Amino acid sequence: MDLFYIYDSIFIIGISLFVIWIMWSAVIGAGFEPTSKRLVKKMLEMAEIGPKDVLYDLGSGDGRIVSEAVKSYGARSVGIEADPIRVLWSRMLLFFYDIQNKSKIKWGNFFNQDITEATAVTLFLGGKTNQKLKDKLVKELKPGTRVVSYVWKFDGWEPTKVNYTDRIYLYIIGVSNI
Ligand SMILES: C[S@@+](CC[C@H](N)C(=O)[O-])C[C@H]1O[C@@H](n2cnc3c(N)ncnc32)[C@H](O)[C@@H]1O
Repeated sequence: MDLFYIYDSIFIIGISLFVIWIMWSAVIGAGFEPTSKRLVKKMLEMAEIGPKDVLYDLGSGDGRIVSEAVKSYGARSVGIEADPIRVLWSRMLLFFYDIQNKSKIKWGNFFNQDITEATAVTLFLGGKTNQKLKDKLVKELKPGTRVVSYVWKFDGWEPTKVNYTDRIYLYIIGVSNI
């Protein structure tokens, strides 16, 4: 087998893996796009996050919401992320900030993870994914749990607060979904 053929094959396999990596998150929920630091604060303030809270960020990306909830608001926080590279990156971030005792990143599909302990949930996903999540949120979250969604609404649910300029929506389980 000539060397060019081997290099060629490695290149094609590499490109294919890269495309699968980029596409996978989008297929199972939403592609990666980080929320700006300013809007992370706005989301957490709208949810009135405090030291008694357990915040879950579903699709936690690079871990910025998880780390901010701990550092600036004293909450305990859990991120669930499907992309292994971002899981590693965000775990390093929590290590760097020395907040692993109050936060963790779970690697997996949030549709298959237990979120019952959450007192607040943040989302930046997509319209269809929000719709698909509704049953899980109602089934697993306690009444009174705050759900803050950036950009995407839940069709048929009434937000209790809206920031129209920044497109941030607050829903309360047991209130918004009735
Ligand atoms: C738009 S990004 C938001 C990241 C972060 N929450 C933020 O606001 O900066 C969406 C993230 O959700 C992840 N994701 C999409 N579907 C998922 C699923 N079903 N389970 C776990 N993570 C998922 C993607 O990999 C991506 O990192």
